[in-house]
Amino acid sequence: MSGPLPFLPAERIAARVVELAAELSARWPGDFPRCLCVLKGGFIFAADLVRALGRPDVTVDFVRVASYGDAITSSGAPIFLVPPPADLAGQDVLVIEDIVDSGLSWAALKAALGDLGVKSAAICCLVDKRERRLVEVEIDFAGFVVERGFLIGYGLDCAEKSRCLPDLWSLDPETFAPETRDANAIDS
Ligand code: IMP
Ligand code: MG
Repeated sequence: MSGPLPFLPAERIAARVVELAAELSARWPGDFPRCLCVLKGGFIFAADLVRALGRPDVTVDFVRVASYGDAITSSGAPIFLVPPPADLAGQDVLVIEDIVDSGLSWAALKAALGDLGVKSAAICCLVDKRERRLVEVEIDFAGFVVERGFLIGYGLDCAEKSRCLPDLWSLDPETFAPETRDANAIDS
């Protein structure tokens, strides 16, 4: 008897991470932006992505954004538990995030980076989830576009659990695995 299948198996994620690294390298063939991993959810994706980039000039910093809510609903204004480092001023920044949902976190982080005086700020998220988008945000690079559902694994948690799962799982049985979408096709 076979068990349930993951929403996105680790192998498919790994293949997409390699593609994303190629897209990012093509976008920045010269100096690479300062990578800013959004904790906690982004830590596994960022670890794989920066290694897939294979460029020793890549640096990684961390920011921690939290929004109050229950286990599966983010709500209210995001707060910075770890703020972005001040020395990002004047720099190109690439934010590495697990998932964009309402868009509030990315909007708040982009505003904070603007206040800090960064030269540019782009985002690369593993999942662009559209269903609960509350603010219009530009997603520069996305691994997978998902319409709905709550995802766990590969860094994504439900009440802090399940981040360690190698595959991505959906808690919503009605959710189907997404087609891979080229970042250029998004928001066009
Ligand atoms: P936002 O709603 O775009 O501000 O996203 C806030 C954060 O909520 C994301 O960075 C994730 O950490 C978390 N989040 C949103 N959707 C999911 C999900 O499906 N699974 C796990 N975490 C999620
Ligand atoms: Mg997150």
